Amino acid sequence: MSDHPIGIFDSGVGGTSIWKEIHRLMPSENTIYLADSKYAPYGEKSEEHIRQLSIKNTEFLLDRACKLIVVACNTATTNAIDHLRKNYDVPFIGIEPAIKPAALQSRSKTVGVLATKGTLGSSLFHSTSENHAHGIKVIEQEGTGLVPLIEAGKAGSSEARTLLKKYLEPMLESGMDHLVLGCTHYPYLMPLLNELLPGHIRVIDSGEAVARQTRAVLERNGSLNRSTESGKSVFYTNTHVSALKGFLTEVDSTVVISHWDF
Ligand code: DGL
Repeated sequence: MSDHPIGIFDSGVGGTSIWKEIHRLMPSENTIYLADSKYAPYGEKSEEHIRQLSIKNTEFLLDRACKLIVVACNTATTNAIDHLRKNYDVPFIGIEPAIKPAALQSRSKTVGVLATKGTLGSSLFHSTSENHAHGIKVIEQEGTGLVPLIEAGKAGSSEARTLLKKYLEPMLESGMDHLVLGCTHYPYLMPLLNELLPGHIRVIDSGEAVARQTRAVLERNGSLNRSTESGKSVFYTNTHVSALKGFLTEVDSTVVISHWDF
C-alpha cells in the first residue's frame, strides 16, 4: 500500500503549487496529479456541478489505486469534500482559506480573503469564518477572471495586474494586514502581489500546511512511503500538455505529463 500513489486534483494548473509542497516534503512518494483544465474555472459553477466534477476526478484517481486523495482546490474542497468523504473509502485532504492563522496574527484585526465565488459562497467557508474570526473583520473578495488568466500562462500579464489591483484596493482601504490566498492558483500571482502590496502585509497560503497534514495522515495510517528513492510523478491534463509543463519547469525530478480525455 505504501508505494501506491498519492492522488491530487485541481480544476487545472493551480494545484501544482500544492504538488510542489507535497513533493518537497515527501520526495519518495509516488504521485498522480489531475489537471481538469477543460472544466476550469470551477469557481463560477454551481455546487452540484463542482460535486460532479470532483466525483469524476476522484474515480479517475481511485482507478489508478491512489492511497489518499488531496483535493488541491479550495472550490472543490468547500463544495464537495463532505460528499467525497461520505462516499469513498479513502482518506481525503482538503484545502480551505487559512483564515485561522491570519486572524490569530492580525494586529489591525482586519484580514482580506481573495478566493473564488464558489469558495466564498459555500457553507463550509462561512462556518470556518464564523468559528475562527471572532472580533476580526474579514473582507471577502472574489477573484473573478484570475484563474482563466493563470491557466493561460498569463499570471504576470498587465491584464492580471489590472484585475488584481482592482481587487486589492478595497481590502487595502479597510486596513487589512494579512491577505489570505483562498485559491491554489493564486500563489502564481506572488510576483504581482509583491509589487502591489505594501511591505507590512503578510500573504498567507495553505500549501505547506496541506503537505504536512498529508504526511501526518499517511504516517498515522502506516502508509507513508519509506523508500529512499525518488518517487514517480505522473501528471494528466485534459487540455494542453504544454500549458501544464509551463508550471513544472523548475521541478528537479522527472515528471511524466500526459493528455487524457477525462
Ligand atoms: N484552484 C482552484 C481553487 O483553489 C481554482 C478554482 C477555479 O477553477 O475557479 O479554488
